[in-house]
Amino acid sequence: MRVLHAEHLTLVPVEARNARELWEVLNAPDLRKYQDIPRVRAEEFERQVRARPKALRPGATGRFEWLVKAGEPQDAVGWISLRVNDRTPRVGEVGYSLILAARGKGYASEALGTVIDESFESAELDEIQACIVPENVASRAVLDRTGFREERLLRSGAVIRGRHVDVLLFTITRATWDRARRESLSRAGNR
Ligand SMILES: CC(C)(COP(=O)(O)OP(=O)(O)OC[C@H]1O[C@@H](n2cnc3c(N)ncnc32)[C@H](O)[C@@H]1OP(=O)(O)O)[C@@H](O)C(=O)NCCC(=O)NCCS
Repeated sequence: MRVLHAEHLTLVPVEARNARELWEVLNAPDLRKYQDIPRVRAEEFERQVRARPKALRPGATGRFEWLVKAGEPQDAVGWISLRVNDRTPRVGEVGYSLILAARGKGYASEALGTVIDESFESAELDEIQACIVPENVASRAVLDRTGFREERLLRSGAVIRGRHVDVLLFTITRATWDRARRESLSRAGNR
């Protein structure tokens, strides 16, 4: 996996060497209201990261994750992940979180836009999905800002703190992403 550069952010692939840095972010407050994040010991987390796929390429499946870094000097302020399932290797599912101090600056939208580009370019996916708890208004706004479309409600589609909850499924297809990119390129070309 490669380091991804965006306007305000650097997305650094999570590997064994920096797994502990993510583990520390995962234990920050205010991250678990709308999602389940397993609490594991740092060594166990490093072991899990070591077992993940190393390259995001066509047909690759598993969990691909980046630390979101911002500021001067660049600090880890969150993470963004892409999961590609063995059964549907051309469909990915994204997840993203920021620590409290990094919210309200457009970082999640910027990071998600960057990972969408990378996922369609490097992994040749056909579709990217995201599932959110309907109450998570901030996350819905991130999906709206990055071109996702709301599909349907998945009854008991997730488990949070042991409870089954309904989630909303959002998607963005390669065709939609291609069109948006062409439009923004032609807008830039007309300036
Ligand atoms: C979901 C989450 C990442 C959204 O974070 P966020 O800061 O609201 O989203 P963004 O980083 O895209 O920032 C958007 C906000 O920045 C503001 N902003 C400032 N500069 C901006 C810019 N250049 N571009 C876009 N937005 C900008 C926007 O106005 C918006 O503010 P608003 O929320 O007051 O309308 C965050 O709430 C979070 O980590 N929650 C906990 C974990 C979680 O629930 N994750 C999702 C699970 S599905």
